[in-house]
Amino acid sequence: MQILNKRFFLNCGLVVMITSITALVYRCKNPNVESDYYNPVVLATHFNGEHYVGSETCMECHADIYSSHLKTAHYNTSAIANKETILGSFEPGSNVLDLEYVKFTMERKSDSFYQHIAYKNRLKKTPPSSFDIVIGSGVMGQTYLTWQGDELFQLQSSYHSPADTWVNSPGFPTYALERPVRDGCIKCHVTFATNRTPGQGNQYDKEKIIYGVDCERCHRPAAKHVVYHRKHPEASTAKFMLKIDSLSRQRRLDVCAQCHSGSRTNQLKGFPFSFLTGEDLNEYSRNITTKKQSQELDVHGNQYGLLTSSECFKQTPTMDCTTCHNPHKNQRRNTDYFNQKCTQCHSGNVKTCSAETSQSKTMGNDCIACHMPKIRSQSISIKLTEKDSVESSFNIRTHLIKIYANQEISGKP
Ligand code: HEC
Ligand code: HEC
Ligand code: HEC
Ligand code: HEC
Ligand code: HEC
Ligand code: HEC
Ligand code: HEC
Repeated sequence: MQILNKRFFLNCGLVVMITSITALVYRCKNPNVESDYYNPVVLATHFNGEHYVGSETCMECHADIYSSHLKTAHYNTSAIANKETILGSFEPGSNVLDLEYVKFTMERKSDSFYQHIAYKNRLKKTPPSSFDIVIGSGVMGQTYLTWQGDELFQLQSSYHSPADTWVNSPGFPTYALERPVRDGCIKCHVTFATNRTPGQGNQYDKEKIIYGVDCERCHRPAAKHVVYHRKHPEASTAKFMLKIDSLSRQRRLDVCAQCHSGSRTNQLKGFPFSFLTGEDLNEYSRNITTKKQSQELDVHGNQYGLLTSSECFKQTPTMDCTTCHNPHKNQRRNTDYFNQKCTQCHSGNVKTCSAETSQSKTMGNDCIACHMPKIRSQSISIKLTEKDSVESSFNIRTHLIKIYANQEISGKP
């Protein structure tokens, strides 16, 4: 009996030991098995090996910034196409784009959206293209992209917000055309895309496109930061995260200039998505400009070039884009807020225009209406209908802050 008992306990001990050793070996091989929490899902990987994890992972620790960011034009500048994100109409009567040689009809089939093509002078038939990706938050308009296998193309039908109608995509002819979408087009409208031949082809890994201008486009891929702070909830100073406000003014401006200083098509180093905050943008890309172009910066997409030509900028050592803009908030049409920014510098000893000479009584204190007026863009325009002889253009707020003659001030804010 005693012997049996002893053997029984010995056996039990052995079983316990083997179980613990197995568990130990398993844990060493799979250190994070206790929770996926410490292993956030990687959405894409930058050329430098750093991982993107997306803004949803930031929510738990930066809740306020996360929720206000969802409302920005940046966050909404690209998305998967669906009934919430597509602004153009699929209702019969307002679902047609009629051009000289071709007619497009937009059709909705339950949760899918299609562009049908009818050629006017040919028997040719082409299958419909689906609306797969939306580009543009809709402030001015939207353009749509379609997949053919893993190749990305731009649809010819675009949406024009002010006229609430379908228009021919800017730069397209009046016959049917398919335009491949390369990095050079989407580099400013998505956070990161995994292109099979970066910078050139239009073949992408569909699952690895991070839509919108998301946190990590300005703050660099943040997987390490997230993992560290999840493991160290007590840590109160940021780890593995660049402090943007301690960078030099030029490096801070570069964060915004990568998308707001013209098309920068002259790629000197890396690919369109290579540049990361903290680096010297001019080492990566430049604009190809003629002398005339550099004298006449267009209001579309070159806020950087215009602002840096202004006296306000040149005569202050600290001004950058965040002097007036909070990158985490939608501040469109918040005129009072922007005017306050002017009077932060232009009051007391700093010069302001006198009420009589500037008729500022009638305009109230709306500094930006006179000194940052809306100006017609020379570079983007679209034809609303084929019969239109006048091209409809876009009025965009200029960032060349100066004294304008009355006739230059076109629209009210
Ligand atoms: C588990 C918590 C946690 C998560 C998740 C997290 N952060 Fe942080 N983050 C912190 C802490 C703590 C700080 C330091 C205190 C502060 O500035 O709020 C910080 C600071 C920052 C800063 C300021 C850095 C500085 O010193 O100026 C930025 C920018 C930032 N985080 C971006 C992000 C982004 C982008 C994400 C999502 C991809 C993210 N964080 C996810 C905890 C987190
Ligand atoms: C260098 C950066 C850059 C590139 C490249 C670029 N865009 Fe844009 N795009 C912008 C900016 C910035 C705006 C906002 C308006 C402005 O500043 O003039 C904008 C506005 C738009 C809008 C209107 C958005 C809205 O919500 O009103 C559409 C649509 C658009 N772009 C489509 C495209 C397409 C299609 C391509 C490629 C052929 C392209 N963009 C290439 C930066 C860029
Ligand atoms: C368009 C670029 C841009 C985007 C997108 C962006 N940020 Fe920022 N963020 C900045 C800049 C620039 C600063 C520095 C602000 C300053 O210097 O005043 C900053 C500062 C911060 C800070 C530290 C200061 C503060 O305001 O608390 C945190 C934290 C932060 N960002 C988190 C985020 C998170 C989380 C997201 C996404 C939900 C995000 N940011 C999206 C540009 C951006
Ligand atoms: C990855 C490219 C990218 C970066 C980086 C970027 N922007 Fe933008 N920004 C855009 C695009 C694209 C739009 C047009 C969005 C739309 O309406 O679809 C835009 C729109 C804006 C608008 C207009 C918002 C509105 O409500 O219409 C402001 C203001 C702005 N950006 C400021 C900034 C500032 C300040 C920074 C730097 C902190 C910055 N951007 C960095 C691409 C970028
Ligand atoms: C960071 C401080 C700062 C801010 C903010 C600022 N300015 Fe200025 N601004 C200056 C300085 C400095 C000068 C050059 C000296 C002067 O004329 O007072 C200047 C010059 C000007 C001039 C004369 C330009 C010329 O070409 O003669 C106008 C007009 C002006 N600012 C309007 C504005 C308006 C409107 C705003 C708001 C949208 C604004 N400023 C925001 C600092 C600032
Ligand atoms: C002196 C203040 C000031 C500074 C500095 C400034 N902005 Fe602006 N920005 C404005 C005002 C005012 C508006 C108009 C807002 C509105 O219409 O609601 C604006 C609008 C914009 C728009 C939208 C243009 C449109 O009409 O659709 C973009 C994009 C933008 N800013 C980008 C930038 C970038 C990038 C920088 C840095 C290079 C910058 N801003 C610096 C005051 C400023
Ligand atoms: C109705 C249009 C109008 C409005 C509104 C307006 N200004 Fe002016 N501003 C002018 C004109 C015109 C001049 C040139 C004549 C003058 O000096 O009065 C001028 C000149 C200036 C100068 C240069 C002064 C100098 O002597 O070099 C500054 C700085 C300035 N304005 C800032 C502001 C600020 C800040 C606001 C808002 C509080 C504002 N302006 C509102 C039209 C306007």
